[in-house]
Amino acid sequence: MSRSAHPAGPRHADVLTEGHYSAPAADLNALDPKVWSHTVSRTEDGVVTVGGLEVTALAEEFGTPAYFLDESDFRERARAWRTAFGHDADVFYAGKAFLSRAVVRWLHEEGLNLDVCSGGELATALSAGMPADRIAFHGNNKSGHEIRTAIEAGVGRIVLDSFQEIVRVAHIAQSLGRRQRVQIRVTVGVEAHTHEFIATAHEDQKFGIALADGQAAEAVRRVLALDALELVGIHSHIGSQIFDMAGFEVAARRVVALLAAVRDEHGVELPEIDLGGGLGIAYTSDDDPREPHEIAKALSEIVTRECEAARLRTPRISVEPGRAIVGPTAFTLYEVGTVKPLDGLRTYVSVDGGMSDNIRTALYDAEYSVALVSRTSDAEPMLVRVVGKHCESGDIVVKDAFLPADLAPGDLIAVPATGAYCRSMASNYNHALRPPVVAVKDGAARVIVRRETEEDLLRLDVG
Ligand code: LLP
Repeated sequence: MSRSAHPAGPRHADVLTEGHYSAPAADLNALDPKVWSHTVSRTEDGVVTVGGLEVTALAEEFGTPAYFLDESDFRERARAWRTAFGHDADVFYAGKAFLSRAVVRWLHEEGLNLDVCSGGELATALSAGMPADRIAFHGNNKSGHEIRTAIEAGVGRIVLDSFQEIVRVAHIAQSLGRRQRVQIRVTVGVEAHTHEFIATAHEDQKFGIALADGQAAEAVRRVLALDALELVGIHSHIGSQIFDMAGFEVAARRVVALLAAVRDEHGVELPEIDLGGGLGIAYTSDDDPREPHEIAKALSEIVTRECEAARLRTPRISVEPGRAIVGPTAFTLYEVGTVKPLDGLRTYVSVDGGMSDNIRTALYDAEYSVALVSRTSDAEPMLVRVVGKHCESGDIVVKDAFLPADLAPGDLIAVPATGAYCRSMASNYNHALRPPVVAVKDGAARVIVRRETEEDLLRLDVG
């Protein structure tokens, strides 16, 4: 489990069980650059700005709740990954973290590739002009229709996830008269230190084909025997929100060992390995993520060393960061509704969104930060739980945090680092209208995903 995926740490547990509030060390008006996007700052009169625009004006124009995505920060992070991995490697942005046509265009312009895992993501990518050969198609249960669409579009690779899928993809490729480039996703048997629901390389879960019992070697045999498939490499994704590089190193070592075994058995050196995504970001000031250049260096060193030892040509490496690119680039802006102090416990601050725009706290016990952004305050810190407006008590956005004690209805608060897996996992629970995503850059803001309307809801309701 990552630091941010932990339930409230001892700091807060002590506070709560002892029934007193201990003041946080930090200045509540300060904005830790670790968790806020690059262009976020405060004006002299205390209003927070992003891309040069004040959140008060943004709230007025676009309403709340809303996600504000810092475009130049997104582009910088995408570029940093691209540069760190250089020309001998490929970076596939994982669209599941957040995908829209504008994002696809930015990625294309910055020279990244794209990982999609559904027909919907593929359609979004293609409609925004991402060249199909720069798209990888993932998923543990791709439909026949999705496979056909991907092959017809000419995707650069399909990542095979099961024995049945090997046959299915080969059959469809053959019927279309195509030879499809594929990778095989293997489970390397690593227990990634993250939340159980987002760890994916231990054996008892639904993804991939196990290395340990010879299943992956058998999958290679079957793929190599099929003319309609061109096996280009092996894929491993060990989980998400991971800080420790050790898991990636073990995965890389085991994948290279499989490449060596394939060479020994078939006389074939597979040209690619993909080490997946999963690099953690800072949700709170306690998190210390690695920089892309450190990650690139660590991965390429280990792959090169292992390949030298096995006397293999070093394959082309690819990675699939999603959260690490988009996560830190957005915050969610909420208006404070009710403020309810519970004596001896904490104060419940209700906002105009909730688990419909950020399910991660309820689902993974994720930790977030929060700040008052429409003004500064010198009031004492108060321990708060930021909750939404949905009809259940698990509707928590930020479990334990400090906000100024003079917080009042109408104030704007923002939760940083909500760029990944918030809008993409948003729901219509209680018929909530999913918030817009507004891209902000150089003093201009534009909606890239509009707010849902009641008409949108009613359009689907055809009974
Ligand atoms: N590649 C593959 C094959 C994946 O399955 C994933 C994420 C990624 C790349 C990107 O991982 P990232 O770099 O974004 O961690 N909803 C969860 C995360 C689920 C991740 C699923 N797969 C959350 O909110 O934490």
